Amino acid sequence: MNRRDFLFASLATVAAAGTLRAAPTSAQQRVLVAYFSLSGNTRAVAGFIHGAIGGNLLEIRPAESYPAEYQAAVDRSRDELHAGERVPLAPFDVPPFDILFIGSPNWWGTIAPPVETFLRTVSLKGKLVVPFFTHGGGGMQRCESTVRAIGEAAGARLLPARTFPGGSATEAEIADWVKSLDLGADPLAFADVPRGTFPLGQPNVANAKWFSGRSWVAPLTGMAALNCPIANVTFEPGCRNNWHRHSGGQLLICVSGEGRYQERASYARPGRVLLPGDIVEIAPGVEHWHGAAPGKWFQHLAISTNPETNKTDWLEPVEEALYCSIGAKREV
Ligand SMILES: Cc1cc2nc3c(=O)[nH]c(=O)nc-3n(C[C@H](O)[C@H](O)[C@H](O)COP(=O)(O)O)c2cc1C
Repeated sequence: MNRRDFLFASLATVAAAGTLRAAPTSAQQRVLVAYFSLSGNTRAVAGFIHGAIGGNLLEIRPAESYPAEYQAAVDRSRDELHAGERVPLAPFDVPPFDILFIGSPNWWGTIAPPVETFLRTVSLKGKLVVPFFTHGGGGMQRCESTVRAIGEAAGARLLPARTFPGGSATEAEIADWVKSLDLGADPLAFADVPRGTFPLGQPNVANAKWFSGRSWVAPLTGMAALNCPIANVTFEPGCRNNWHRHSGGQLLICVSGEGRYQERASYARPGRVLLPGDIVEIAPGVEHWHGAAPGKWFQHLAISTNPETNKTDWLEPVEEALYCSIGAKREV
């Protein structure tokens, strides 16, 4: 096996490893364009943004639609704002994203209640949020400050908001604005990623579908004569991988932050809290998962044992309740 073959063969056996090839930058930052619109102006802007940058487009809908009659809709929205309660939303799925374009009409000087519910419902931790609004002459008013307050409290970073009067925005104008944001320049520029002893590497694009959030992988070794693939894996807060097993086992050496680990055999037990210096020996074929603690970054070295034949089988995601149950008690 030459050096290049060795690198690719051995990295495939590292649980959280990607390949050495980085995906195109645009694929590394997942974009979601989410909006609420009553009369279509904000929907049109969202459509132009989506056309300019791609990603996923999501319409935010209240569980109970606003009345078609304008004055009735105005009355209801005023009542909702006065009540200050979250307006329930129709069921929706949020695809994984790194950058959120969030759009709302200016209602009574602020964002429409369904948008506020959405922002308070989805996880914004570590995301980049780009707000945009349409208005009927009042401009920004409190729209931007409201989104900023919600986003920053949730751990997001915000770019300056942009407003568009009524239905006047053109596709070309919006394409220029999106381009001026230069979001594709550096895939990690917006990621609030700690840099530590070992390199961060690249976004773990190859295995992203088996991780609940963002992760990065940096292969550290490559000498074929040693046959010992080691990678530094970084998990963003709350990110863990699916249940999985390695036919040849795996060794984890915890480097920084705080992590979680659980084996299927110890399912009834609370699992392990991982801290720097902890070692996890994972026997061949044992079903397990690992990742960051809620609200904490985590890094471990992943060492592929028996790498000549080691193979990873990915299973189902870890249930939120199970994940959150770990940490009450530290097991070693
Ligand atoms: C209930 C309601 C309240 C509004 N309040 C304001 C306002 O305070 N300031 C403003 O400039 N426009 C206001 N407007 C106008 C909308 O912001 C504007 O028409 C917007 O483009 C509508 O977006 P949409 O077509 O996506 O629903 C209001 C409209 C409605 C229906």
